[in-house]
Amino acid sequence: MESETDFEENVRRTLANPQNQGEMADADTVGTVGSPDCGDMLRMWLKFTEKDGQKVIDRASFQSFGCQTAIAVASMATEMLKGKTVEEAANIDSNELSAPLGDIPPMKIHCGQMVEGALKQALSQGDASTKAEEIPAPQGNTLLGDFHASTSGKVKVVPIESE
Ligand code: FES
Repeated sequence: MESETDFEENVRRTLANPQNQGEMADADTVGTVGSPDCGDMLRMWLKFTEKDGQKVIDRASFQSFGCQTAIAVASMATEMLKGKTVEEAANIDSNELSAPLGDIPPMKIHCGQMVEGALKQALSQGDASTKAEEIPAPQGNTLLGDFHASTSGKVKVVPIESE
């Protein structure tokens, strides 16, 4: 019998107690993406605050309509993002987000990319230079319209409109 890899064990442990799962009612922004590879979807909400004159992520939460790896990466990512400035968050890639889980198998790489895509999509909804209090409230159906090339080249995800 094949033994469980470190990655599988870490995913299983994370799923036993996933963090920050669920919609965030008072979020400042939300990003929703889907993977053409598997048809899964992931949504990430961000709430900003101001610290030492900089806009930082106060809280992040997610909802995943997808596989266990995406849930595990999103759980880790939403913890990792707390306290990060918008610039720092924008520079995090899927490798970094999934690193706490160990060596991600090639066929699961897109799961982490979906989390990165949702994060970038959420960040792209607000101007990174604005102060926390100037961030516009999430707009119901503008996700698709606001999507721009910054996330489409590297991450194989597509934006999905909010309902
Ligand atoms: Fe598609 Fe994991 S298999 S997100």
